[in-house]
Amino acid sequence: MENIKELDREYIANTYARADVLFTSGQGAQIFDDQGKSYIDLGAGIAVNIFGCADEGWRNAVVEQLSKLQHMSNLYYTEPCVKLAKLLCERSGMKRVFFGNSGAEANECAIKTARKWAFDKYGDESYSTIITLKGSFHGRTITTLSATGQEEFHTKFGPFTPGFVYASAQDAADVERLAKEHKCCAVMMELCQGEGGVNALEREYVNQVVEIAEKYGMLTIVDEVQTGNGRTGTLYAYMQYGFTPDIVSTAKGLGGGLPLGACLLGERVQDTLDAGSHGSTFGGNPVACAGAYNIISRIDDKLLEDVRKKSAIARRELEGSKGIKSVSGLGLMIGIECEKPAGEVVSEALKRGVIALTAHGKVRLVPPLTITEEQLTRAITILKEVIAE
Ligand SMILES: Cc1ncc(COP(=O)(O)O)c(C=O)c1O
Repeated sequence: MENIKELDREYIANTYARADVLFTSGQGAQIFDDQGKSYIDLGAGIAVNIFGCADEGWRNAVVEQLSKLQHMSNLYYTEPCVKLAKLLCERSGMKRVFFGNSGAEANECAIKTARKWAFDKYGDESYSTIITLKGSFHGRTITTLSATGQEEFHTKFGPFTPGFVYASAQDAADVERLAKEHKCCAVMMELCQGEGGVNALEREYVNQVVEIAEKYGMLTIVDEVQTGNGRTGTLYAYMQYGFTPDIVSTAKGLGGGLPLGACLLGERVQDTLDAGSHGSTFGGNPVACAGAYNIISRIDDKLLEDVRKKSAIARRELEGSKGIKSVSGLGLMIGIECEKPAGEVVSEALKRGVIALTAHGKVRLVPPLTITEEQLTRAITILKEVIAE
């Protein structure tokens, strides 16, 4: 362990403040470190390991594809990405899919598609502005940092990509004001802001934003990188808001632990991208897509009902407990506002065998959807003890 830590400090770029633990294996929501200590995982690698560690069905699908063909250029047809795209479209109502490798890349595609759609419509690039929401997080590339509606991400790496304006979340009048002031092609939102503090947008507000988008000729883009793939209790969060977006970006849980991002294109933009206008060497990788197909095909009504049930159990346990000011979120994406600093809670919980995350001053829980009720309540009991002390 010491050796790995030293080598990490010497050779890995200093972008991560790592916790003092070396994880080596796991099964479902149980993870082991190099000392053999067991942890209950409420983080899932930041909402990625949607079926936990070493899930048998996902692993078999990955291994089977791995032993046949691990990669082929997008210049040729391959089966796994096509099967996955068809399944995603059938389940979402979207029409076509562009595959990349991460959330940021899925959002880059969403942004490019919206701008190209406006270019095709108006014949020039003047309608290129995208309204995003304050408190949002859309990625770490220069453009997705620009899209992110948090000032702290808009320094040190400039110049940033122009063409983003930021509306107050939960304030539809602010969206309309920006739509009037700028030539906009789209409004982009996370229906439950993850990094920004696990805050779900209100249904009425979202419906007003959709109406404003319609009125001002803007597309709706929903960033489901974190909320997608069953996390919030529906396959995609928009499905509980009563509208169908024009573009949906997703990643994280989609690949179940392998890098995979997808930009789902609705009817109005299904033909916006043409040959040569966008691409990604690894996008639609057969191994990642074979695993994702297994995952998406298993996120059925029963599993989603289970997610909602576990969410209710967790919230019931947490709400009103000593030291907890509020509980927020959707499904198994839960934010806990504590009297204690969130970072302290998370590091003490880790010492006691519970993996949790922070999000903008809150404790964030995004466990594997397959966590057992027993594991969930045990982990929450430990968390509550830490928070109450
Ligand atoms: C809502 C949202 N969008 C985009 C991203 C960026 O995803 P990635 O880190 O895979 O590029 C994240 C990552 O946390 C996210 O939560």
